[in-house]
Amino acid sequence: MIQVSAPAKIILFGEHAVVYGQAAIAVPISSLRAEAHAEFSRDKLSIIARDLDNKIIYFDGDDPLAETARLTLKKLNLKALQAKIIVQSNIPIASGLGSGAAISTVIIRAICGLTQNNLSNQEINKLVYEIEKIYHGTPSGIDNTVIVYEEAIYFVREQPIQHIANEKPLILLIGNTGKASLTKIAVGDVRKLFEFKPEHIKPVIEKIGWIAQSARQAMQNGDIQRLGQLMFDNHALLQQLTVSSPELDALVVAAKDASALGAKLSGGGRGGNMIALVTDDTKAQVKQALLGAGAVQVYETTIAKSDL
Ligand code: MEV
Repeated sequence: MIQVSAPAKIILFGEHAVVYGQAAIAVPISSLRAEAHAEFSRDKLSIIARDLDNKIIYFDGDDPLAETARLTLKKLNLKALQAKIIVQSNIPIASGLGSGAAISTVIIRAICGLTQNNLSNQEINKLVYEIEKIYHGTPSGIDNTVIVYEEAIYFVREQPIQHIANEKPLILLIGNTGKASLTKIAVGDVRKLFEFKPEHIKPVIEKIGWIAQSARQAMQNGDIQRLGQLMFDNHALLQQLTVSSPELDALVVAAKDASALGAKLSGGGRGGNMIALVTDDTKAQVKQALLGAGAVQVYETTIAKSDL
């Protein structure tokens, strides 16, 4: 029996602008995970999705999970495999936390484990990216990268990943609007806006990139006040890209009123999750405020202090 897992992710700064070549910062959430348990069987390769009512997906079927298995077999030069992979996850689906990329990652790792093949993270990341294209159209690659490597990253499209130094632990609350939202649609709408009004949208995208660069500096200096303000500024720019929603805005305002240092939507937007930067002293009141303003769940995660 092979057992593997992969984390959820949040984007701290730079979502959407990252699609256009700007910098972004993403971190894994190790407490929310997708898992796969795999064993050999007498039947052709199947994937059982625990969270989809134990739906059975055969590897020759028409499903992104089946495509993940096929791509992996192809990469390993295998024609077929008789095995059963059970996948399950406590990452909310369609909420900007990377559940799709985490599931793809564990399917690939499970097949590698069973067949005793060792693909590097770089090779796994390439495969997951292929599946992300099915889910999201034209993804930047940030989601699969942070999930496969499971480390905080400073990401610029098509450039090697860069590590981030973080001088002070950052306590984040993740507020779930409970509203499912497809990243593909939000990304497509920003693309339309970009093509329709480039003179308005290009400067917004560039400002978001500048915010991500400044945030990296603030993390390095341990300047959490500044980091918080940059989150509010980033959220305002995401509103201009039309990817916020009344639910997300309500949570950001509630976090601010309850003395969060910063707050913004995280991921594709239009629903899904937002994040708030808090301290030990404010986290309880901010959590209460988020729940009062409509969050269906609030998770807490800490980004540890880290050196380069
Ligand atoms: C989604 O988590 C992040 C987006 O920037 C899309 C992408 O980078 O592919 C909205």
